[in-house]
Amino acid sequence: MQRGLFITFEGIDGCGKSTQLNLAEKFLIKEGRDVLITREPGAKGLGEKLREILLNYDGNVSDKCESFLFLADRAQHIDEIVQPALNSGKIVLCDRYTDSTLAYQGWGRKQNIDEINMLNNIATGGLKPDLTFVFDVDIETSFKRVGKNKDRMESAGYDFHQRVRNGYLELAKQEPERIKVIDGTKSVNEISDEVIKNINILLKKS
Ligand code: ADP
Ligand code: TYD
Repeated sequence: MQRGLFITFEGIDGCGKSTQLNLAEKFLIKEGRDVLITREPGAKGLGEKLREILLNYDGNVSDKCESFLFLADRAQHIDEIVQPALNSGKIVLCDRYTDSTLAYQGWGRKQNIDEINMLNNIATGGLKPDLTFVFDVDIETSFKRVGKNKDRMESAGYDFHQRVRNGYLELAKQEPERIKVIDGTKSVNEISDEVIKNINILLKKS
């Protein structure tokens, strides 16, 4: 079976991952590559309904329920969108994936990391990204970029986001080959150059 490439974009809210994902897409299209861009939570259909609950429900959401809703979205997303695209040889660029659940629900909400790893595995059938970018910004920069209009997750507060940021940096230490940390406070162009350099290295290897 043909196998495309799976590249994920991660970091705390407002770190600039969507900006960089779109620039990476433009670069790959210019190179004549077959690219699919997608996101979690809520790429389409059922996922959009789950996203609406996850980001906008204003009643009580237990930490376990929150984890399962993100994982339910992921299971659907992998089956319906990501795996078929990879099977047809596409390069899939995904805004958030399994590392988000480890960082936000694991470190942020203090849920058991081993359990999140196990649940991620079940939801994805073990599908790992070939390359992951973490755009690292301080919490002040994140809050400034997100602005006043915050969703349920963005409203979780300073200490929560600090734990999430530390979680990402810890994950990158554990898997330095896969996870590249880039200083998200640099200019958009400087960051994009670094992203494209790493994508080119991956393309040459594959
Ligand atoms: P995310 O997808 O991580 O939430 P976005 O790419 O949507 O982040 O960017 C959030 C905001 O920050 C946007 O207004 C965007 O224009 C701005 N932004 C993105 N990257 C940078 C950067 N390197 N420097 C300054 N502002 C940035
Ligand atoms: P996103 O749409 O990337 O928001 P933004 O572009 O504003 O950063 O992600 C939505 C929120 O969901 C974000 O706060 C991170 C959170 N999230 C989790 O907590 N766990 C997860 O597994 C995923 C995929 C996202």
